[in-house]
Amino acid sequence: MTTVELTLLPLGPGKDLTSERGVECPGDLPPASDPDLVERARAAKAKLGAKVFVLGHHYQRDEVIQFADVTGDSFKLARDAAARPDAEYIVFCGVHFMAESADILTSPSQKVILPDLAAGCSMADMARIAQVEDAWDAMTDAGIADQVVPITYMNSAADIKAFCGKHGGAVCTSSNAQVALEWGFEQKPDAKIFFLPDQHLGRNTAVLELGLSLDECVVWNPFKPNGGLTVEQLRAAKVILWKGHCSVHGRFTPEVVDQIRATVPDVKILVHPECQHEVVLKADLVGSTEFIIKTIEAAPAGSAWAIGTELNLVKRLAAAHPDKQILFLDKTVCYCSTMNRIDLPHLVWALESLVEGNLVNVIEVDPDTEHWAKIALQRMLDLPGRSHRD
Ligand code: 13P
Ligand code: SF4
Repeated sequence: MTTVELTLLPLGPGKDLTSERGVECPGDLPPASDPDLVERARAAKAKLGAKVFVLGHHYQRDEVIQFADVTGDSFKLARDAAARPDAEYIVFCGVHFMAESADILTSPSQKVILPDLAAGCSMADMARIAQVEDAWDAMTDAGIADQVVPITYMNSAADIKAFCGKHGGAVCTSSNAQVALEWGFEQKPDAKIFFLPDQHLGRNTAVLELGLSLDECVVWNPFKPNGGLTVEQLRAAKVILWKGHCSVHGRFTPEVVDQIRATVPDVKILVHPECQHEVVLKADLVGSTEFIIKTIEAAPAGSAWAIGTELNLVKRLAAAHPDKQILFLDKTVCYCSTMNRIDLPHLVWALESLVEGNLVNVIEVDPDTEHWAKIALQRMLDLPGRSHRD
């Protein structure tokens, strides 16, 4: 088994050169207390004009999302990244894997900028390429690799996407996981899906959308010999789930669902498919962030909703729909700490640096990885139709 060095993220100035991320902001990062930050962001964006295109994921802070030209979930942002081929700079207000995908899907002359390189994703970090290759070797030894179609959730590093592209697989997001798995099963006789890195999205999709049984899904634990599975278990499985999860959505519990149902009459539980299977089973509706937004927009006045997704989005939905009762499905605060790394000081710093002709925090995927990852991403973009939960 390959030993994978997990890099620690140092806090404070300096750069972690062994990690994809760093924390250095050369030049002047304005203090968060600067009362002129909004005006400075506005002025810098106006000076850049059509040269800059700002993309914002729905989990971004209010202070940042107000400057996004386009907002969306991972799928929409991947599709929209290429929508402005004339823009020289794409400032991505989201996390590292999203910026990598934007770099892959845009032209080489366009530069993708992530305002804070420390905006990673704990789930994406749970699958390292060396670990994934070890798992593939074990599948080869078990005589099943020829049947396996690897599908990775968008929330993964570019090299994992490239691995899927090379091995006949694809990328998916929470809004098209069902179609992607159906596509995967059609690719080979007796196909098996190797789903990376979110075990919950993989399990929820396989069981609740495709009708597989829980027993047909096994979990590959990269920290155990042979993934913690016997050769017989690997051969019998229909879906091999990577042991990864989202640290934000993984927090929601079935107990809180029960408590909210007991206290709020007629409440509807609406959750993201990154939540644990036990939570999704108890929910009324499940879908991507885009689906969650559309559901609340279409809900009648006076209806009550408890939502299991990132708190910035839930708070924005509550503010935008004062005629509906919107609750957060957790007793404690649950922001995505890495999404929250993109704050107004970093956005101002990135935009003002561009005004000065200084490109900071450029995300650039190497050409070989880009080639294969693009194949996997393109297979996703070409999937027929989308889930009813998009
Ligand atoms: P979607 O944007 O696909 O809903 O995924 C949610 C998420 O966790 C993004 O990091
Ligand atoms: Fe990653 Fe979860 Fe944060 Fe999305 S919400 S960026 S999956 S840790």
